[in-house]
Amino acid sequence: EGLHSLMVAAGKLYFGTAMETNNFDDAAYQAIATNKNEFGMFTPENSQKWEVTEPTQNDFSFTQADSIAERVLSNGQLFRCHTLTWHSQLPPFVANGTWTPETLTAVLTAHITTVMQHYAGQCYAWDVVNEALNEDGSLRSSPFLTTLGEAYIPLSFTIAAQADPSTKLYYNDFNLETTPPKTAAALSLVRAVQSAGAPIHGVGFQAHLNVGQTPSRADLAAILTSFTALGVEVAYTELDIAHVAPALPADEAGNAQQAEDYAAVVGSCLDVEACVGVTVWQFTDRYSWVPSTFPGKGEACLWTEGYEKKVAYERVVGLL
Ligand code: XIL
Repeated sequence: EGLHSLMVAAGKLYFGTAMETNNFDDAAYQAIATNKNEFGMFTPENSQKWEVTEPTQNDFSFTQADSIAERVLSNGQLFRCHTLTWHSQLPPFVANGTWTPETLTAVLTAHITTVMQHYAGQCYAWDVVNEALNEDGSLRSSPFLTTLGEAYIPLSFTIAAQADPSTKLYYNDFNLETTPPKTAAALSLVRAVQSAGAPIHGVGFQAHLNVGQTPSRADLAAILTSFTALGVEVAYTELDIAHVAPALPADEAGNAQQAEDYAAVVGSCLDVEACVGVTVWQFTDRYSWVPSTFPGKGEACLWTEGYEKKVAYERVVGLL
């Protein structure tokens, strides 16, 4: 038994992880990743982002993400696709372009349509719009907001639904677990997409959290339920829970708190019927994005960089 098989036994669809092509030649990593008891869902950590899939206009490149999709699908695991309309990791032609509403709509339509049609039938879900909100609930600056206004959000969902009607369309963001004005704005965003007549099937909670600052299982479940009340499913899509300096390297008490925090997050998904699964943003500290992106934070994953299971792993398995 492992994370995925126990999640399925608990009535959920999956326990998943991010993976990238640089993880392919690490035998210790792959021994865990290919174990279908541990992981049933994979998200490409970077290789489906706009800067990779369309680095110059109308010049599409799918080699990197295809190699992840083929690997997991041929092993009977699922593929979660990430991401289409996002302000970050954009190619220069989008980030620095001079746009009118007409030309940017054409570029967005070509991108979403071409990428989604390439992966049609392969993705359990797509993160169609990623991180559109600031912490105070206002809309985040991007070429899309500047040129198209807030209509770029329902527009993205409408284009996506036409490109691949068989996949679930998600809004995905971070700090929805911890930041009430942002959570409220995300609820409004979902309602606005629905009111515009565009389909939205899910909300992804990235859940990049900190040890000792993670909300309780009950509080998290209440937040998830505020979204499922709108008729969408929910999932934790990028879970990691970082120790924060000076609590690094983590001691026994810190690791015990991390275990409780992981249990709160996974437990809250168990408590909400329309929470379909949990994906961690890498399962080993060896490949976590946290220490290089957030100096002073680290050891955020379920396995150490030497592939030892942490107490957080045992706690989650014990909960399931
Ligand atoms: C991160 C990757 O993990 C890093 O390797 C990359 O340098 C930057 O992006 N929110 C998201 C993810 O939606 O795509 C981000 O992934 C982490 C935050």
